[in-house]
Amino acid sequence: MGVITDSRIAIGAVYPEPVLVSGHLNGLGIKEVGTRVNDIVNSIFSSIDAKPLEDTHAPGDYKVKVARNLLTKALTEIASGSVQYIKAPVKDELIKWEFRDGVEYVGGDLVRVRVNVNGQWIEDLVEPRLLLLDFLRRHGFREVRRGCDEGKCGACTVLVDGRAVKSCMVPVVRVSGHSVTTIRGGLSKGMELHPIQRAFLEEYAMQCGYCTHGFMMVTQDYLTNIDPTANDDLLKLSIKNICRCTGYINIIKAIKKAAKYLQS
Ligand code: FES
Ligand code: FES
Repeated sequence: MGVITDSRIAIGAVYPEPVLVSGHLNGLGIKEVGTRVNDIVNSIFSSIDAKPLEDTHAPGDYKVKVARNLLTKALTEIASGSVQYIKAPVKDELIKWEFRDGVEYVGGDLVRVRVNVNGQWIEDLVEPRLLLLDFLRRHGFREVRRGCDEGKCGACTVLVDGRAVKSCMVPVVRVSGHSVTTIRGGLSKGMELHPIQRAFLEEYAMQCGYCTHGFMMVTQDYLTNIDPTANDDLLKLSIKNICRCTGYINIIKAIKKAAKYLQS
């Protein structure tokens, strides 16, 4: 086993901003990291000049404890040779963003964007920070819901070029030139219900209905691009949307039924 010549450790979701600790392990032997792991982790965390973020999700000291445990585990595994390196998982089907139409700066704080929503191009002058969610609701697509506003609940999910995207997490400039689908014009044609809508209705997979649009959008992406038979453990492995009424049993039934409809 060799000596570490360059090291970078990134710690995210603990402090107000991600923290990069560079070079802390340089010059150490890999085995030495294993024998001194607690000292190393202590010295890394005491070198960070930031206060952990307290929020509704967890107290700051809990976040630090979790981060310390993860770092200890990672360093121990590297030192033991059980992993050669740790690499963030990359989903090969991640959406590749590109500005197809470009985004035109028109002066001041405004840019011109063009987005195809349900088959119709919509052009608008917007602030670069405007979210896709706000763009859609501003243009009357009120079926796209605002829930948590921070990428967790999925109530705001739409399809961008056929893939499910949380519209509260994407500035509209990122989808200029792309196509966005909502349930209104995208899945259903005219008065006829789409199989996913039919399944949700038949299984009564809704209570207040606030989450329903997002669930149907993510179901469309899931059944089209990921698991057409809906055999996986749907909600644990794949569909992470939140239903505040907690009607998950019927939602799972509806997704499985929709899979059958789409395959028949
Ligand atoms: S509102 Fe976008 S994920 Fe909750
Ligand atoms: S049906 Fe009410 S939030 Fe899901």
